[in-house]
Amino acid sequence: MSGRFAGKHVFVAGASSGINLEIAHGFAREGARITVLSRSEEKIAAAAQGLRDAGATALGIACDVRDYPGLEAAYADAVAAHGAIDVLVSGAAGNFLAPAVKLSANAFKTVVDIDLLGTFNVFRASWDHLVKPGASLIAITAGQAVHPMSFQIHACAAKAGVNMVTKCLALEWGPAGVRVNAISPGPIGDTEGMRRLADPDREKQIKGRLALRDYGAKRDIADAALFLSSPEAKYITGTILNVDGGSDLGDASANAVGE
Ligand code: NAP
Ligand code: COA
Repeated sequence: MSGRFAGKHVFVAGASSGINLEIAHGFAREGARITVLSRSEEKIAAAAQGLRDAGATALGIACDVRDYPGLEAAYADAVAAHGAIDVLVSGAAGNFLAPAVKLSANAFKTVVDIDLLGTFNVFRASWDHLVKPGASLIAITAGQAVHPMSFQIHACAAKAGVNMVTKCLALEWGPAGVRVNAISPGPIGDTEGMRRLADPDREKQIKGRLALRDYGAKRDIADAALFLSSPEAKYITGTILNVDGGSDLGDASANAVGE
């Protein structure tokens, strides 16, 4: 296949649906060989089939990012199929709204284990399988990493850790020619994250507080991942790239110039 990523191996963890699956499709459209991974055998097989139906060379692997030996086996299989990894995206996550007093210690730990420990595991276990120099690693974080939010103590703590994993690895792995960045999506339409966190009846109000006055599209995040892995981004590492319509800036509802 031709394209900007022709012949490259792109591995996306947490890619049976949503934003991460769209990232996989974005790289596939540019000619990359794709490995997608998630827990559900059935969902990941369907995701890989969808990529193949779109013309990509794609492998689906069922594995939980909390299972380190499982990830080691997944990388061995992926590299045997597609060669060393050029681009690695770590986006597996779990979330739900819950007040802290209703959150069990195990519920808090579950989200931290999937998002934070999972991101460490995905990156750490990849080391022996990366193209060095040259690999681009991308964590999918969230605004919760820097903005405290009610009923999100678990996700806020986990994603704050993801930002630090990104920056610490960028420091340590930069000398080997491995860049490590993160993308922080804002509210992205038609995703499980939004179905769980945003009340559809408040859509107009939520959009009205955003500087760009709309939800993002999954494709916006895929395009950012392509950019961060392209030669144009070769001097970018340790960056948390907000692709969020201005969410990080705060409430823009009063700034109605031109409306
Ligand atoms: P999603 O469709 O539910 O994607 C989550 C993916 O992670 C699924 O493919 C799920 O597949 C996989 N997964 C969950 N737990 C896993 C585990 N333990 N091991 C391996 N895979 C696991 O949700 P999304 O809304 O697109 O979110 C994708 C990413 O974007 C997340 O990192 C999220 O925090 C971030 N984000 C989303 C938004 C938004 O507006 N949606 C905003 C900011 C950040 P299985 O069930 O098959 O395991
Ligand atoms: N409110 C409060 N606690 C909750 C909860 C909720 N809505 N959902 C789950 N929990 C608790 C469970 O009760 C359990 O705690 P306990 O043992 O003290 O009872 C703990 O969380 C673990 O639940 P479990 O269902 O065993 O976890 P899992 O590993 O199978 O699933 C989740 C992980 C809970 C995050 C699940 O929602 C999931 O798989 N999410 C992936 C998809 C997703 O969240 N996408 C959006 C990404 S932004």
